[in-house]
Amino acid sequence: MAINNKQSRALPIYIVNGPNLNLLGTREPEIYGRATLGEIEKLCAARAASHGLTIVFLQSNKEGEMVEFLQEARTAARGVIINAAGYTHTSVAILDSLQMIKQPVIEVHLSNPAAREDFRRHSYVSRAAKGVIAGLGQDSYLLAIDAIANLTAAKPRKSPAVKKKKRARA
Ligand code: DQA
Repeated sequence: MAINNKQSRALPIYIVNGPNLNLLGTREPEIYGRATLGEIEKLCAARAASHGLTIVFLQSNKEGEMVEFLQEARTAARGVIINAAGYTHTSVAILDSLQMIKQPVIEVHLSNPAAREDFRRHSYVSRAAKGVIAGLGQDSYLLAIDAIANLTAAKPRKSPAVKKKKRARA
């Protein structure tokens, strides 16, 4: 069953990582940086905590397992941050899963795929993403957490005094 905004605000941000990101730190550090995925997870948890939020940080090398994480996120997440890694450029199945998520989805990349090989220029994930943050290394994840926090913040209710003033002026 779909969840409403108020219910999802109490939930963690799901951060879903795709294939080969488990090898960060040693994987092409000149492109992806020296931080390990575990280090990025700790930074993300701290950034989320600074907004009073929590995270569920996931990684899989298997497309089907990522689909299962995303199906779970439909009812268990406040919003989703996804670095689908190589599947960004190939996976209709991951796009289909993302399109069923009503909460905000932010696509992130450590590198800037648009500035690399041609085959990295197309992203299936982008079709379902509210926004894309790429090329800023681990900061791409941290800025995506700020974005989810802003996008899902409870909107302050207008006080009756403000409403009255507006009506009087009209
Ligand atoms: C990546 C970019 C993808 O093109 C690549 O396949 C990855 C990592 C990034 O974070 O820069 O595995 O998503």
